[in-house]
Amino acid sequence: MKASSLLGRILLSAALSVFVFIAAWTAIAAFWLYNTTLDALETEADRQSREISAALDSLVWNLDERSITNYLDTKVENPEIISITVTEAVSGKVWSVPAVARRHSDSRLTTRSATIEYAGDITGRVELEMTQEPRRQQVMVSIGALVLSQILLFLAVLMAVTLSWRQVANRLNAMVAVQLAFRQNDPLARMVVTRRDELGILAAGFNALAEQVWLHNRSMEAEIHQRTESLIESEKLALVGSLVAGVAHEINTPVGNGITMASWLASRTGEVKSKIENATLTVAEMRVFLTDLDSGLRLLQTGLDRTANLIQTFKKVGTDQVIDERRPFSLRPFLEEIVVSLQPTLKQFPHQVVLECPENLTVENHPGTLFQIVTNLVMNAHHHAFLPDQAGTIRVTAELVADTALFQIHVTDNGAGMAPEVQSQIFQPFFTTKRMQGGTGLGLSIVDNLAKSLGGIIELRSEAGSGSTFTVRLPVRAPDRSS
Ligand SMILES: Nc1ncnc2c1ncn2[C@@H]1O[C@H](COP(=O)(O)OP(=O)(O)O)[C@@H](O)[C@H]1O
Ligand SMILES: [Mg+2]
Repeated sequence: MKASSLLGRILLSAALSVFVFIAAWTAIAAFWLYNTTLDALETEADRQSREISAALDSLVWNLDERSITNYLDTKVENPEIISITVTEAVSGKVWSVPAVARRHSDSRLTTRSATIEYAGDITGRVELEMTQEPRRQQVMVSIGALVLSQILLFLAVLMAVTLSWRQVANRLNAMVAVQLAFRQNDPLARMVVTRRDELGILAAGFNALAEQVWLHNRSMEAEIHQRTESLIESEKLALVGSLVAGVAHEINTPVGNGITMASWLASRTGEVKSKIENATLTVAEMRVFLTDLDSGLRLLQTGLDRTANLIQTFKKVGTDQVIDERRPFSLRPFLEEIVVSLQPTLKQFPHQVVLECPENLTVENHPGTLFQIVTNLVMNAHHHAFLPDQAGTIRVTAELVADTALFQIHVTDNGAGMAPEVQSQIFQPFFTTKRMQGGTGLGLSIVDNLAKSLGGIIELRSEAGSGSTFTVRLPVRAPDRSS
């Protein structure tokens, strides 16, 4: 949409209107000029015929041939007069001065005939022929001059209008260009206001509006950024929170069992103690007591070990989350820790998590970030791939990528998979198919960003109905975060 096309149309219609007006005016003027000139010839013919008959009255009466011929000869010197024929009434004598040469090319004649009277009697007749040609030629020259002057006038008007429209068009085109630039990619594009006319006011208005839109966008962007940050933060906290809940649940059982065991051992000890005081304790009873004590303490020991392990794992995870410095660590135990810390949550469902990782694979990486990535992918498989009572398998596989300084972790499930239109959107922030069931749609966009922050990428292979594989490919030695 170019402004010049609009201006071009306006210019064309202005030129057409001016042309039609000037042409009509010229035609009317020419018509009027032509008619007036020919009317004047008619009047002249009347006057000439009257003049001739008046001049000849006594000459014809007297039959003064010589004077008549002389008079007629002077008359036909008038270039408009073609012929004069005088006829005497009584004798029928005729005097005629034909201008043959003039008649030759002439087709339009004005004729008059008048009577010659003397002292109240009709003495003869005058026939007068006049040609329109000289006046027609004259009027044609005038009309030509008129048309020429009108054409010049039209061209002058056209030029003036074009020049002023060109100015307007240039300014409008500049405005259109700024407006396009503003809409497409340059929020700082502003119009130049040189004059305070209508276009200047329009440009200033646009500038004010653009300024407002820009400021509004900036504050919106800042707000969205801030909200997204806090959502990402709360998503991370939710991850740690669900781990805490799972670990607390997991610790509950061994600690509860320990308390039961300890109070049972205390009551058994009380029984034995009172039998010793009453001197009724038999050796057999003492043996049974010692056996109970032994197995009770062993159970207590196992429970406490398990609790200590869980707390240790969680402490490590927690510290990694908080500190997350790059450090060398062995991948397999690290992934085992993840599986262990997710176990409390996943244990309540029939699906299982399988880990495949070489023993000797060491990476130098940010464990906290890697933990978040893998946990998110496993939890997504748990949330999205399976129905609650479906016994699926989530496979976590890690390996070095041959001939590169990269390693990759696949998280594969044999669950629902994703349709292509879902796949194309899952890494976008806030895309979720579980909006009503607590999905935020931030998980995979966070994972994507985290993988990039470790210098890597994430890929998805999935087919509706036959499961999904997320592959995170990362450098064995993560890039320095400060750089
Ligand atoms: N393993 C998976 N199987 C099927 N769909 C998945 C899987 N992982 C992710 N998705 C899809 O990707 C969407 C986005 O995931 P995510 O960004 O983690 O957000 P959320 O988990 O909050 O929905 C999910 O809503 C789900 O539709
Ligand atoms: Mg998720």
